[in-house]
Amino acid sequence: MVGKSFAWAMLPALAATAALQARDNPTSAFDYDSLTLRTVGGRNTLDWRVWLEKNGKPISFWHDVPLYLDASNKQIVNFVVEIPRWQDGKIEIKRDEPLNPIFHDDKDGKPRYVESVWPHKSYPFLYGSIPQTWESPNFDHDFTSEPGDNDPIDLFDIGQDIGYTGQVKQVKILGALAPNDGGETDWKVLGIDVNDPIADLVDNVEDVEKYRPGLIQSYRDWFTYYKVARGDGVIPIIGDSYVNATFATAVVEKGHGYWLDLVKGKVDSNEINYNQTSRPSIPDSFVPSRAAVRRLDIPAKSDPKRAAERPARFDQWFYLDEELGLIEGNVVEE
Ligand SMILES: *[C@@H]1O[C@H](CO)[C@@H](O)[C@H](O)[C@H]1NC(C)=O
Ligand SMILES: *[C@@H]1O[C@H](CO)[C@@H](O)[C@H](O)[C@H]1NC(C)=O
Repeated sequence: MVGKSFAWAMLPALAATAALQARDNPTSAFDYDSLTLRTVGGRNTLDWRVWLEKNGKPISFWHDVPLYLDASNKQIVNFVVEIPRWQDGKIEIKRDEPLNPIFHDDKDGKPRYVESVWPHKSYPFLYGSIPQTWESPNFDHDFTSEPGDNDPIDLFDIGQDIGYTGQVKQVKILGALAPNDGGETDWKVLGIDVNDPIADLVDNVEDVEKYRPGLIQSYRDWFTYYKVARGDGVIPIIGDSYVNATFATAVVEKGHGYWLDLVKGKVDSNEINYNQTSRPSIPDSFVPSRAAVRRLDIPAKSDPKRAAERPARFDQWFYLDEELGLIEGNVVEE
């Protein structure tokens, strides 16, 4: 008898939990047309920030944009554009600030840029990250045997659209590269915008080779050599080439699991700010979007400033010599 009345007493609490879970981020209800950007400061400065807004209220690019559009097709994922095609500013999601705005990464107190290694000019594709994934640094990962780099999983989109910083796109996963960059797992997932003219024709790396011959090798080379010009070494690719679409899709799905443990507060967060506005059933990280400005001290509206000058050094080409490691050509010291 005691047990029975206890069970009845629990019912309202259970119903409340179920209601909260039902309100959690239903993927199908994610309305892309409700998204806008809140921009503060000037491009090419360290004060510049871009937040994502939904219906005019701030949300997190990383924690609030759903990973899948339809959980029955895990090859199609959302993608946050950080660096549009043909730009060279090292722009990315800031992991340690509330609701994770996009900012201009710095090196030695100055905005960071990527040198152009001939024949590429800046980033030859759209570059960004996959929301609701995490390269957990808390353990060595299978396949790479290295800890994660503590960021969302990166993706490069080979579609022909140029894109813009802060854009949320839907992409199809086609494969991935695992560069061994300084002892960290830092997957680069190969994807294509689902609205690209060839998106329906390509499902894997071989299809890309068929419809865009040479591109697969060329972009693999880009990731191998792009840091040589700043004095770093060549970056080897683990396994030497791309993993296939099935493998890459599984890597992303695993990264989603690590992310879920992060926002639930189950693991060491490594200084990531994981406040989120879409899962009320996880009370430790949930902040209602309408309260975020006040509670998380986020600017109440856009306040864009004029862009700062880009250093001239990055208008030049850098060339690899025959040993593929040294640079010659018109390098100018700042
Ligand atoms: C994808 O790669 C994995 C790992 O190398 C392999 O086991 C699997 O058979 C491959 N799948 C396809 C469809 O090629
Ligand atoms: C939420 O943001 C505040 C303000 O930056 C921070 O103190 C707090 O640790 C954050 N909470 C989580 C769960 O990241």
